[in-house]
Amino acid sequence: MPTHLFGRSMRHDPPRAVSGDGCYLIDADGKRYLDGSGGAAVSCLGHSNAAVRAALHAQIDRLAFAHTGFFTSDPAEQLAERLAAHAPPGLDRVYLVSGGSEAVEAALKLARQYFVEIGQPQRHRVIARRQSYHGNTLGALAAGGNAWRRAQFAPLLAPTSHIAPCYAYRERQAGESAEAYGLRAAQALEDEILELGPETVMAFIAEPVVGATAGAVPAVPGYLRRVREICDRYGVLLILDEVMCGMGRTGHFFACEEDGVVPDILTIAKGLGAGYQPSVPCCARRPSTMRWPPAPGSSSTGIPIWATRSRRRRPMPCFVKSRIDTC
Ligand SMILES: Cc1ncc(COP(=O)(O)O)c(C=O)c1O
Repeated sequence: MPTHLFGRSMRHDPPRAVSGDGCYLIDADGKRYLDGSGGAAVSCLGHSNAAVRAALHAQIDRLAFAHTGFFTSDPAEQLAERLAAHAPPGLDRVYLVSGGSEAVEAALKLARQYFVEIGQPQRHRVIARRQSYHGNTLGALAAGGNAWRRAQFAPLLAPTSHIAPCYAYRERQAGESAEAYGLRAAQALEDEILELGPETVMAFIAEPVVGATAGAVPAVPGYLRRVREICDRYGVLLILDEVMCGMGRTGHFFACEEDGVVPDILTIAKGLGAGYQPSVPCCARRPSTMRWPPAPGSSSTGIPIWATRSRRRRPMPCFVKSRIDTC
């Protein structure tokens, strides 16, 4: 059957998935595929889970959408409450969006809006890391350090500094302890802040465990703590992107708990929606001065469909601390 879709590759047509069964996907010929990675680390509840489907159906039967410019809803409120209850201290505001890239966009815009509103509009520079991935929309792509994905769109991307990643396997020197390497890697952040001029730097964004662009690479002990100190020293917001590594994947609900570090803004997605629900959060501390959320909102974001009945997973947000104390 001819396709009118843009697929991931123009060179071959992928098999047509028609149903799911736990960790298997099934194509039109009945062939079963073990979905070992859950797509791109998405389907962590398995395919066609009966409890999730029932929760989705129940919510759709009640209400599928109400514009967030005019309404809140029980599912959205309950989701935010539950996320805030489990989030690191201070991350108690949740902004619901539709996917990981959009959560990163929201986080960047939120950081910018914060500085505009506290009277530091000169802060606009973003520092990120090489071999990182933060999504495919223009703002998120600019933040990411995946050279191949960025190359052809480079003229469209906002200037972003990319410092060295924390990648002990490749960058730790012989005889250097993990802790010493972590401090050296974090020093790249302070060097870049000083190079750019601290008063111009808005945010540092990093994945606690790098996913799409470097495999599964956690930071060495102490790295993120030093990063947090450096951000605090210069009034720079720390955005941790847990779109891939959050939601229990490291043994903690949020990956940053491993290092005892609390970001100012945290993004989650993938495992929260588990492939059933395209709605994710950006979570942050809400500065008392800030109008909320980073305007304007998106017209398609509305009711987290399975927030009410299913106790398992929820739509995907971007988290914000309700008070940002770094400045
Ligand atoms: C760390 C990270 N941030 C953002 C994204 C973008 O998420 P999405 O593909 O849902 O837009 C990804 C996707 O792999 C990711 O791994």
